Amino acid sequence: MTNDTILEPLPEDQWFIESQELRSFVATVREISAITAGDRTQTLARLEPYFQELLAQQQWLPEKFAQINPESKMGGGIGQWLLYRAKDRSLSVFSLVIPPGSTTPVHDHLAWGLIGLYKGNQEETVYRRVDNGDTEGHAQLQVTEVRSLQPGDIYRLLPPDGDIHAVKTTSQSASVSIHILGNDAGCILRHQFIPESHSVKSFRSGYSNAPCKEEEEKKHVQV
Ligand SMILES: [Fe+2]
Repeated sequence: MTNDTILEPLPEDQWFIESQELRSFVATVREISAITAGDRTQTLARLEPYFQELLAQQQWLPEKFAQINPESKMGGGIGQWLLYRAKDRSLSVFSLVIPPGSTTPVHDHLAWGLIGLYKGNQEETVYRRVDNGDTEGHAQLQVTEVRSLQPGDIYRLLPPDGDIHAVKTTSQSASVSIHILGNDAGCILRHQFIPESHSVKSFRSGYSNAPCKEEEEKKHVQV
């Protein structure tokens, strides 16, 4: 194991936008996820109505966080903008902005979560891994569902269920989805799959607006 897989706690919770709507939603997420820590199906079911309300309000996300990112580590100009991160990295909220016609790599998330479409349209392809993971670099995936998503639609992540997917923007304008994840999804090492060649590799998506490592955090503050 390399140090890359160990993420230090942050000095404090991080907020990247000023929004009462988001602050109040995150407070609800923290409360409900603590009460339902032993049953993540309950966590997701209880959070969903609050998330629906947040998605229905169209003024709280600043335009800057709904932009594509030509420098994207994910490729395809995809912007991944961190909005909130808990200091112990047990919760992150970010927007994912996918340009028209672009598709994310097939990837997993490795934590419970809710993803909701905020703007635009998407087609989501959901996969299930059917090999046992014994052979390094090899993964066999099966498509379990292909869905068309409209603004306000929410999908649940509860690994292994629904945890592997690829998302494509089908609207003329970029799609924006809001992600609530029970980890620091942009900074952990997770998996990127190539279904056609039955291969898998480690990947870290990063964020478009925030570093992952403690040293980088310090550098960031000093600059
Ligand atoms: Fe995803």
